[in-house]
Amino acid sequence: MKQVYLTGITTSGTPHLGNYAGAIRPAIEASANPDTEHFYFLADLHALIKGFAAEDVRRSRIEVAATWMALGLDTDKAYFYCQSDIPEIPGVAWLLSCQAAKGLLNRAHAYKAVVQENEDSGSNDPDKGITMGLFSYPVLMAADILMFKANKVPVGKDQIQHIEMARDMAQRFNHHYGEHFVLPEAQVDTSTAVLAGLDGRKMSKSYNNTIALFLPEKQFRKQIMKIKTNSLEPGEPKDPQGNTLFEIYQAFASEAQVEDVRQKYADGIAWGEMKQYLFEHLNEVLKEPRENYAELIAKPAVIGEVLHAGAIKARKLSQPFAAELFDAVGIKPMWQ
Ligand code: TRP
Repeated sequence: MKQVYLTGITTSGTPHLGNYAGAIRPAIEASANPDTEHFYFLADLHALIKGFAAEDVRRSRIEVAATWMALGLDTDKAYFYCQSDIPEIPGVAWLLSCQAAKGLLNRAHAYKAVVQENEDSGSNDPDKGITMGLFSYPVLMAADILMFKANKVPVGKDQIQHIEMARDMAQRFNHHYGEHFVLPEAQVDTSTAVLAGLDGRKMSKSYNNTIALFLPEKQFRKQIMKIKTNSLEPGEPKDPQGNTLFEIYQAFASEAQVEDVRQKYADGIAWGEMKQYLFEHLNEVLKEPRENYAELIAKPAVIGEVLHAGAIKARKLSQPFAAELFDAVGIKPMWQ
């Protein structure tokens, strides 16, 4: 049996350089391995949790899908689909809800963080603004994972807890109804780059410091020029360690190129010059995918076809498995 790798991408916002280096690129590389099976899906039901406007959800779904395709994901080999196209997922999420202890979900970081904010702000309602969607976020995520019998779930550190919760729900279900679920494991790749953003903090949409992956050339250059630097003058030697420009460059360059730039830092390259250098390099690297992306965005029907094929392929697995799970809990259509 091939090992199954599965990960979801929440469709909120526009993919940025950090997403590419930290998640998309390693995922696409891994999916070329013929000995493993890969599931990559748009977590659009998860995107509803934060209450984004419908228009934003709509746009982000297209942008995220186009990004993965433009960067070369082999959508014939990998399973590439929208979560919302697999109606068995919310169905199985309900089965898992009936196993998940409320006390377990009380401990979820995302939920606890909002409760903490409410308490800090002196509100007398700790659950202020918390929907059942947010509270049961880990259950839906567990259904995503368990539905396709994933062994490994590549995620960021912040998601480890969710994978552990998925294991817990799977174990309880298996205990009550027999061994149906495979227990998943988080896979946190510490070797992949975590890029800093415009302000030097981790590049993240929650900090509003991202550089979008596929901006038109001019706007892209403008963003690069905005990256924060220190006050060292041209000619003064600069430390590449922990420098945002250097780290972004490093995430997209060969070792020899990186050595070259290290020397430029030692020789005191001016920040303006380094920004231009970085821009030219990234512009070259992203040129072809950017063209692919523009073509796809202009023809969303092409994206739709790929996702449709992905959903059909994925449902060949999810439909019989969901029927098995429902049968296991005593629910089978009475006409069958
Ligand atoms: N919660 C994940 C995130 O925000 C996205 C996600 C949804 C996911 N379902 C998943 C990741 C299943 C891995 C497996 O990053």
